[in-house]
Amino acid sequence: MGPREAAGVLLDGLSRLEYRGYDSAGLAVAHRRKVTVRRTAGRVEDLRTLLGDAPPPGRSGVAHTRWATHGEPSEANAHPHTDASGRVAIVHNGIVENAEALRAALTARGVVLRSDTDSEALAHLVAEALDGGAATLADAVRTALAGVEGTYGLAVLDARTPDEIVVARNGSPIVLGIGDGEMVVASDLAAVVRHTQKVVFLDDGEIVTVRADGVEGSTRISPTTVDTGSEDYALGGHPDFLAKEIAEQPDALRRALAGRLDTRFATARLGGLGMDPRELRGVRRVLFLGCGSAYYAGEIGAGLVEQLARIPAAAEPAGEFRHRNPVVDPDCLYVAVSQSGETADTLAAVQELRRKGGRVIGAVNVIGSAISRECGAGVFLHSGPEVSVASTKAVTTMSVSFAMLAVLLGRVRDLSVADGRRLLDGLAALPRHVEAVLAEDAAHGTVAAVAQRWAHASSMFFVGRTRCSPVAREGAQKLKEISYCHAEAYPASELKHGPLALVTPDMPSVVVVPDDELLAKNVGTIEQIRARGGPVIAVTDAELPAGLADAVLRVPRTEPELAPILLGIPLQLLARHAAVALGRDVDRPRNLAKSVTVE
Ligand code: F6R
Repeated sequence: MGPREAAGVLLDGLSRLEYRGYDSAGLAVAHRRKVTVRRTAGRVEDLRTLLGDAPPPGRSGVAHTRWATHGEPSEANAHPHTDASGRVAIVHNGIVENAEALRAALTARGVVLRSDTDSEALAHLVAEALDGGAATLADAVRTALAGVEGTYGLAVLDARTPDEIVVARNGSPIVLGIGDGEMVVASDLAAVVRHTQKVVFLDDGEIVTVRADGVEGSTRISPTTVDTGSEDYALGGHPDFLAKEIAEQPDALRRALAGRLDTRFATARLGGLGMDPRELRGVRRVLFLGCGSAYYAGEIGAGLVEQLARIPAAAEPAGEFRHRNPVVDPDCLYVAVSQSGETADTLAAVQELRRKGGRVIGAVNVIGSAISRECGAGVFLHSGPEVSVASTKAVTTMSVSFAMLAVLLGRVRDLSVADGRRLLDGLAALPRHVEAVLAEDAAHGTVAAVAQRWAHASSMFFVGRTRCSPVAREGAQKLKEISYCHAEAYPASELKHGPLALVTPDMPSVVVVPDDELLAKNVGTIEQIRARGGPVIAVTDAELPAGLADAVLRVPRTEPELAPILLGIPLQLLARHAAVALGRDVDRPRNLAKSVTVE
């Protein structure tokens, strides 16, 4: 809302948000007490083409790019949805859980539904409340939402009051950007920072009325200033965001480490945890909770905590944890791991923990996100905005943050000063080492050549042992996600218990081989695979016997405990190069979305 024509601002905002979902897009603009809606299946570019040279006029509007939950991607299911009269237009993130009942009740009242979505009901409910005499649009939204179960980040436009948009939040993020005489509302900072750095993150349960010159509602509005800018969401000369974010890792690591390596006392400084040495000492167990790649990073974290602090540690998918009525142990430190800070399963796990009195901290990238606020304490990753759907730099900064947490927990127990120093030196050297891995591939195409040779395989194994088992899992995940090549990860010790049956000359195995106490065992694994005709790509910081593997991807030698962090980098490159070789859209893989704010 503001003095500018809305359609251009909306389209630009959608392009910034497209990584959140990209199977259909649409916008609605209010002008002269009328709302004009334009929608299409497909991407934001398709919407731009549809609008052509004649975008609908108007200075307030709402827009949406969708990741389907209810109903296939189609124009009818695209947002914005309107009521029968076309007066009310809504865009909605989240899931209306009682949609079936609401739709049935609307149909019984004679409303004709035009989509298969859970969201459309909201437009009709708001219109009914307005027709029923609600004094303001905000009142109508409040009345409509009273009967809604589920999650929403909702924006509502009414043709009769085009100078206001009502926004409501429950479980799906909403950020208000306060500009100079204009307001921008979005589900993500990415669409806001081009216009303003002054923002307000809505809380669950809030319903506010946004006008060009201010916000009115149930909340005390105290804006914060964010330090991300528009350039953080631009390609800056890289072919895609994935390439950019892989390349940004040395700097992301430097930021994650800055001010946190306490060389004097050979420990890590993590003030955000808010825990003194006595409390750290009282931690008897650590459980990392996250989804997808954040969960695999948690597995790396669990390995580090067990090795360095000698306390039991594990990782679990947050979506499993939340649903299995977990026993919450008061002596356990729970770590909620999330790049976006908005993943519904992880957020729900945090809420369940808090209800049961568990001690939970966040390891989150996005400051102001729901998980970071719900935890109230933790470690920010400082990796900078991550746009590509496949997570890379955030995963690397997660692992590094867990290495620091493990050193800290170790140093209040049995980790010696000498070992503490050794690990701090290793951590400080990591950005340089990552730079070397990236430079080698950029200069000689080492990983690219391997990817080209095997990208057409219909399936691959990723194999790692103990501390590198999660590295293999994350490597397989990256390849699956963006190249659509099937990949399966196994702990090396498990291969001989079944999966070896699948090894043939057409089934390459990527084996992660750190230069550690188990080197000989990993060499044995490679020999077992090759004895059965399977090609092997070894990813290693060790000197391997000549001819042991069909291809070797080398990283610099680091401390054995930290090797999983570095050995993950060539696997990111492998996945990206394979996806590019197969002509995939690396930033927007099919069926996925960047942050999964629905269950
Ligand atoms: C994989 C990927 C996903 C996310 C997962 C959790 O590349 O991006 O598996 O890691 O959806 O997301 P966050 O970290 O935002 O909670």
